[in-house]
Amino acid sequence: MVIFSIRRFNPEKDRAPYYKDYEMNVPEGATVLDCLNLIKWTQDGTLTHRMSCRSAICGSCAVKVNGHPKLACKTQAVDEIINGRMKIEPLGNAKVLKDLVVDLEPFFSKFQKVKPWLVTDEIPPTPTLIKGDEGGFKERRQSSEDFHRIDAASTCIMCASCCSDCNSWASNENFLGPAALAKAQRFVDDSRDKVALERVINLSKADGIWDCTHCGECVERCPTEVKPMDRIVSLRTTALKMGIANNNGARHVEGFVDSIRSSGRLNENIIPVKSMGIFNIPGLLSLIPVGIRMFLRGKNPPIIHKHIDDMDDVKRIFKRFGKQKG
Ligand code: FES
Repeated sequence: MVIFSIRRFNPEKDRAPYYKDYEMNVPEGATVLDCLNLIKWTQDGTLTHRMSCRSAICGSCAVKVNGHPKLACKTQAVDEIINGRMKIEPLGNAKVLKDLVVDLEPFFSKFQKVKPWLVTDEIPPTPTLIKGDEGGFKERRQSSEDFHRIDAASTCIMCASCCSDCNSWASNENFLGPAALAKAQRFVDDSRDKVALERVINLSKADGIWDCTHCGECVERCPTEVKPMDRIVSLRTTALKMGIANNNGARHVEGFVDSIRSSGRLNENIIPVKSMGIFNIPGLLSLIPVGIRMFLRGKNPPIIHKHIDDMDDVKRIFKRFGKQKG
């Protein structure tokens, strides 16, 4: 017997969420979704959860299992039993509508912001008539190599698992989030799209690619091959190559590079100033309260760093790497 501890909340009746335990035998080969269905069908018809395809395609069944998001229909229940128990909750970073169902409107609205469609005025070069379709069907073809650049992002099933555990989203609900940014990379790097520069300029603004903190949770939680953080890093690289560097995020990266290149180490006293921009007087003034709080708590980096052996090796490696990168 396994105890399923499920977070319940009915806004029409409950003043606050609570956990309800359900006890049952887990049938051999059952997924977490199978178990939720069995509970609903045999023990408590009021339990509310989402599902559709039951094949890890539609993305609708994502829930937190033992603290982290999983696709319920793709997750074997036996693998999630800890000391005879399993905890199931709604996705994080989203408003709960009822029990395990969350409001995905904010999640989907962020996709709209990155214009997730192909923009081109070119006539498809290879119209292909499909039998029975009098109007014909026109393909916009691309090479295998070109498709490879957008292949990973194309596997997104928009389940919102990545956003559920995203630390940047938790601290800033305006952050576009890993799923929408991965979708943006899919179009920025699409060889058939004609507005990559415009897209990257928009993505480089506040709440975009530079607001990711690299925690890696999205890569851990994505049930497919998207690896959203890698897609965000790819967008950042593209932005720098395009010369879109007049923002705190790009200056932060360049500050890191300059610091290591020149001294072999990170000078944390200079990085905030470089990130903000040395001529950005209001921005620099806004750093003063933070600096004072750090100083009072003894968190400020030393002005003169301790000696570290072999720093010249770091500079040499960096120099050689820089040459190889051209
Ligand atoms: S029900 Fe469609 S992904 Fe799980």
